[in-house]
Amino acid sequence: MKTITLHPETPVKDIRDLFGIFFEDINHAADGGLYGELIRNRSFEFDPIDHPSYHALTAWYLTDGLSGEIRTEEPIHPNNPHYLHLTAAREGCLENEGYDQGICLEEGASYEFSMYVKGQGILHVMLSEAPNTTMAPADFLTASGGVRHPISDGREFSVSSSAWQKVTHTFKVTKTTHTACLQIIVTAGSDLDVDMISLFPADTFNGRENGLRKDIATALKDLHPKFMRFPGGCLVHDGSLNANDRNSMYRWKNTLGPLEQRPSRRNNWGYNQSLGLGYYEYFCFCEDIGCTPLPVVPGGFNPHKGEGVPMEELDAWIRETLDLIEFANGSAETPMGSLRAKLGHPESFHLRYIGVGNEEIGAGFFERYPRFHEAIRKAYPDIKIINSAGPFAVGDGYDAGWKSAVQNGSDLVDEHYYSSPEWFLAKMHHYDDYDPNGPKVFLGEYASWGNTFYNALTEAAYMTHLEKAPAVALACYAPLLCNTAYRNWTPDLLFFNGHQVVKTANYYVQQLFMHHQGETEIALETEDLEEILHLSDTNRIAGDITIAGNDIEGICSDMVLELPQGAKNLPSLTVRTDNETYVLAEDVDAEEYALEFSFKRNAGRKGLKICFGKKKGEDTCLIWDFGGWDNWDCNIASNVRGRGSVISHRIYHVTDEPYKLRLEVKGRRIKAYVNGVLMNDTVDRLPEIEELYVSASKDSEGNVFLKAVNLTGDDKEVRVRIPGLGGRSCSESASSDSSTADSREALAYGKILQAPLSAENTFEEEVVAPRDFTVPFEQDGFTYAFPAHSVTVFRI
Ligand code: AHR
Repeated sequence: MKTITLHPETPVKDIRDLFGIFFEDINHAADGGLYGELIRNRSFEFDPIDHPSYHALTAWYLTDGLSGEIRTEEPIHPNNPHYLHLTAAREGCLENEGYDQGICLEEGASYEFSMYVKGQGILHVMLSEAPNTTMAPADFLTASGGVRHPISDGREFSVSSSAWQKVTHTFKVTKTTHTACLQIIVTAGSDLDVDMISLFPADTFNGRENGLRKDIATALKDLHPKFMRFPGGCLVHDGSLNANDRNSMYRWKNTLGPLEQRPSRRNNWGYNQSLGLGYYEYFCFCEDIGCTPLPVVPGGFNPHKGEGVPMEELDAWIRETLDLIEFANGSAETPMGSLRAKLGHPESFHLRYIGVGNEEIGAGFFERYPRFHEAIRKAYPDIKIINSAGPFAVGDGYDAGWKSAVQNGSDLVDEHYYSSPEWFLAKMHHYDDYDPNGPKVFLGEYASWGNTFYNALTEAAYMTHLEKAPAVALACYAPLLCNTAYRNWTPDLLFFNGHQVVKTANYYVQQLFMHHQGETEIALETEDLEEILHLSDTNRIAGDITIAGNDIEGICSDMVLELPQGAKNLPSLTVRTDNETYVLAEDVDAEEYALEFSFKRNAGRKGLKICFGKKKGEDTCLIWDFGGWDNWDCNIASNVRGRGSVISHRIYHVTDEPYKLRLEVKGRRIKAYVNGVLMNDTVDRLPEIEELYVSASKDSEGNVFLKAVNLTGDDKEVRVRIPGLGGRSCSESASSDSSTADSREALAYGKILQAPLSAENTFEEEVVAPRDFTVPFEQDGFTYAFPAHSVTVFRI
């Protein structure tokens, strides 16, 4: 009989911190997302540097008769230089549309309004909506000249002051709407300045001022993450090296203190960061949701530009990092600790980890990292230091990150990969051979491309591997949040609009694992569960061979396709346009083949994409990306139905020099040569499915957890045993859902996720969600049929 035997008395690895979350301000995750502010561009700081379409009045509208001018003389604070000067020849209206289709308000709820004003005049503020509620604020304003239907009480402010004053009001809303706007009626004859016009729900998460949107924050808390990596991602290091530049990297000291004194910054994802959700708020959020903060600081190097701070100026960056640790943990008597205390938090934030760098691939980073490492280690020997290993699960960045980590004695290495479900299915033992005594793996970003139940299932199976692999210490899915009106990246863990949150199938998988994480992995054995399902038995990479220019114009000549039956000369080709695809050969179906040609780029910035094994009618192929990303890469990627996985990566910049390129395919092994030098050498492994993916753990309260993922199409009936448990009753006190009985029939408390593979949760319908059940014990365990295509967790 198929059997899983659990050994709670045999601890294997400490997994206390294992699964967490990664917050990056991408997809409007912060402003227009988790951050509770409802006014978009509250301080008139939007700028074309953030996005070419932005300007200081983005999201603001003025009716005729009201003239508005952006001014910079005597601002509230030099960090917040722009404000709006208003003169009203006749009564007019200034309006903010909020994010997306308008401000979302709830009947009966209160909203905190505040604004800075100076000058002379009378202002009347209110929350309104268009009578036709499907009309977005901007359209309505143009159509109606500003006439709206108030849906809140209003408030008049009489202004007569040459100095900035803050005025406030609490609105009480009378109607639920998703297309409201803030209106400020300016009385005829008024001549005033306004800035920092803000509106927050009174009911923020944990009731904090300058707080977070309750539904999103609660969904994150409900995951029970053990840590939160923040504030990015590329957001951290993709920017100017000067902290005072409008497009600077994410520098933590820019994000503290009174909101009107925080500078605005470009977000590298093509929008603006108010920095209202800054480091202090991130630390408080971690505390509120009971997880360990895991900040990532830039390492003085921007791999997007290959630009590094001069070595003689690096000390200032290192000081900034040490200051951050002191800010988080130092006593209120230390300079940074006292700053934290002044902001309202005398107690430590208990920082235990710090990441230096994100997806670093340049030598420039690895020259700078040791200086950060040494200084942090010396000042804070207990803080775990995280090195960085590039954007893929293989290659130059990856190897450099690991080499640097081993040389410097980093505690962890931050790995990132986004891959197809098939890649994950081929890699279920990826970390088995990693040295548990060296730096540990921090899988700081990963996802299979998609939010279907199939994606979630493969991620769940992979999470059992992460739990068991001795070298893996931390892991978090990425990205976390997406405002569906402002997508930069999908898939994501949670989608939201102004009033709804969608918990994806992937979210529920993360939640099941975090809720049943325990503190210690325990030993388990399986019997009769060894069958492997091969999803494909082809040992060949068969299909069309095509070539396309990637942002270039160039010539491919002397083209020869070598096949087992002999070599074939192909005509020369001018690749002219971006990504126009030329078919070189159709239906190549050989165990071994090679393509060799000369290439000369005449114009453009990147290189070529050579596809092989390309299946007709579906986006499935292997790709040699010569000059990929921003002309940084020479990669081999495996695409399965449009979802790519990089399986070999070398740093390479294509130039206008003449090249000899050669691609060799033998079985599933691929080699790519540039001018006779072997650049890529990899195997495209085929996906396979094991009978059942399982892992087990326990916590200090006596709960034993079992996670099992069935990716096959058959139910798997399994006997689950805990030797030694036979005859004993489980105490109901171990159950959080329990009633009052002290001792009764022993049960395993299960939760299951089961759905069609293509199922995906949407705003309209939640088709994937966990369901509870119990299974009674017989003797030393229970028998349970793990359903086809399911994730099951048990608390025993
Ligand atoms: O998670 C989205 C992005 O993916 C991150 O910013 C970056 O680190 C990675 O490339």
